[in-house]
Amino acid sequence: MRFSNLCGTLQCVKHKTTFMSEKPIKRNEHIISLSREHHFSLLFGWKIKNGLKLNINPHRICKYVLYFWENNLSIHFNQEEETLFAVHNDDLVTKALVEHEIMRSEIKALKNPEDEEEMAKHLTRLADMVTAHVRFEERDLFPHLEKILSPEQMKKIGHELNEMQAEPLRDDYEDEFWLRK
Ligand SMILES: [Fe+2]
Repeated sequence: MRFSNLCGTLQCVKHKTTFMSEKPIKRNEHIISLSREHHFSLLFGWKIKNGLKLNINPHRICKYVLYFWENNLSIHFNQEEETLFAVHNDDLVTKALVEHEIMRSEIKALKNPEDEEEMAKHLTRLADMVTAHVRFEERDLFPHLEKILSPEQMKKIGHELNEMQAEPLRDDYEDEFWLRK
């Protein structure tokens, strides 16, 4: 599967699936790394949904979800919470924090599944939630914070993120269950 990054649009070349809006996103340089990570979160949601559509066993999908959570999404949430969301609080930031907590609970539920049907429901809910959450952050929350926070605050956040992101977050899971083979 190859992906091309087109003016803020991440597209799966093979499936012609578009993960971000066609409109180029102008993102403040200091938080652009978070937006790059969002591309992988959108792909994560798409992979889960496609796996379910292909009738892949939920246990197999769940293994990937826990891998992505440990190596990518949980780290991304912590980065946001310790930098961008730590310097300002209002209704939009609270909404993001509440959504993070709901997604943490969904992951916990996946670690203790009742049965496959239940697991598939949690997977669907998690995929939908991650997708909607990223869109909310990209379309509403980040533009809002870019307006409110001062250039100095953004610069400081950029430095903090740089220190936290010594290595890019991983998404190199080998079992590509989301592809029709
Ligand atoms: Fe995010």
